[in-house]
Amino acid sequence: MLKRILKLFSTDVAVDLGTANTAIYVAKRGVVLQQPTVVAIRQSYDSGGRHIAAVGQDAKDMLGRTPMGLNAIRPLKDGVIADLEMTEVLLQYFLRQANIKTRVKTNMRILVSVPAKATLLEYRAVKEAVDGAGANEIRLIQQAMAAAIGAGLPIDQACGSMVVNIGAGTTEIGVISLLGTVYSDSLRIAGDTLNERIATYIRRQYGCLIGEATAEHIKQELGMALVLAEDENQDMEVRGRQLAAGVPTAIKVTAKEISAVLQDPLNTIINAIKNALEDMPAELSGDIAERGIVLTGGGAKLRHLDKLLSQEVGLPMIIADDAESCVIRGMGKALAFLDNIAYDSLFLH
Ligand SMILES: Nc1ncnc2c1ncn2[C@@H]1O[C@H](COP(=O)(O)OP(=O)(O)OP(=O)(O)O)[C@@H](O)[C@H]1O
Ligand SMILES: [Mg+2]
Repeated sequence: MLKRILKLFSTDVAVDLGTANTAIYVAKRGVVLQQPTVVAIRQSYDSGGRHIAAVGQDAKDMLGRTPMGLNAIRPLKDGVIADLEMTEVLLQYFLRQANIKTRVKTNMRILVSVPAKATLLEYRAVKEAVDGAGANEIRLIQQAMAAAIGAGLPIDQACGSMVVNIGAGTTEIGVISLLGTVYSDSLRIAGDTLNERIATYIRRQYGCLIGEATAEHIKQELGMALVLAEDENQDMEVRGRQLAAGVPTAIKVTAKEISAVLQDPLNTIINAIKNALEDMPAELSGDIAERGIVLTGGGAKLRHLDKLLSQEVGLPMIIADDAESCVIRGMGKALAFLDNIAYDSLFLH
């Protein structure tokens, strides 16, 4: 009885704490926040203390452009927490912004997404960060599982569903059947890796230094997994700093050369998908061959990625609608199953 009354006052919240973007879903309200996972810190020279200057989009706008004493930090790296204190700050700020009480330990349950291959220590960091944000119960779900639910795959059926979620920090591969994970893999190669490869190439090839934001811009504007005949002549001007003289410079890069730079990390993803297909029971790979592989996450939006993967793996690839928000929407749906024993296998234990 008491439990039931308490439940009336409880809030169920899902948090997709991503390397690049964080999203929050509140039961009965839906997705209430989507913001970059960035915190800007001002260092005080007098006291040595750190003050929060901005969080989310405002902080992201400062990345690589901060004056002395101001630092824009991305507290997650490769899908896991790299700076626990800043992750707590970010979560508290976002929960407050989403109008969720964090002061008192309310009856708040938080569901958080995690990569499939995090270490125990990394899982503990997630729990600690969320605990610091005021939850009194924390549940975990694998990103690939959440993505599959969000993409509307028939995960409850006796039929294999395969999803590849390409985020900024990790690529998560999951095969799900009868509400359980049959196969999972996690690569620390994703959108951020592509940006790093682009920046390294431009530095080595042209002696031109570019920041993270410029690399991301090149990837989105000119980047493609495969150069089709109609894209052959595409190029763009890139501004950066000349390494030798230290002065601003502008160079021209082509779609062909950027695409060539992306092939190595993309091959790692292709091989992981092939391994998954080889390792799973034959019945399931038959289902997947028939129905294709669903691509989710922001990284799935790389131009012609579906075509390259399909060509290399030999199966149909389907980019999920609203690929970037599949994980948070799936988590939102999963909130309804938190108390349902039959759906317990959706969550991590
Ligand atoms: N049009 C696009 N082309 C290529 N990449 C894109 C595009 N749009 C977004 N991305 C990439 O998607 C990534 C962000 O996706 P997403 O929000 O799913 O990641 P995340 O959830 O923050 O990271 P993770 O799940 O790995 O912790 C970034 O690396 C971004 O560069
Ligand atoms: Mg993600």
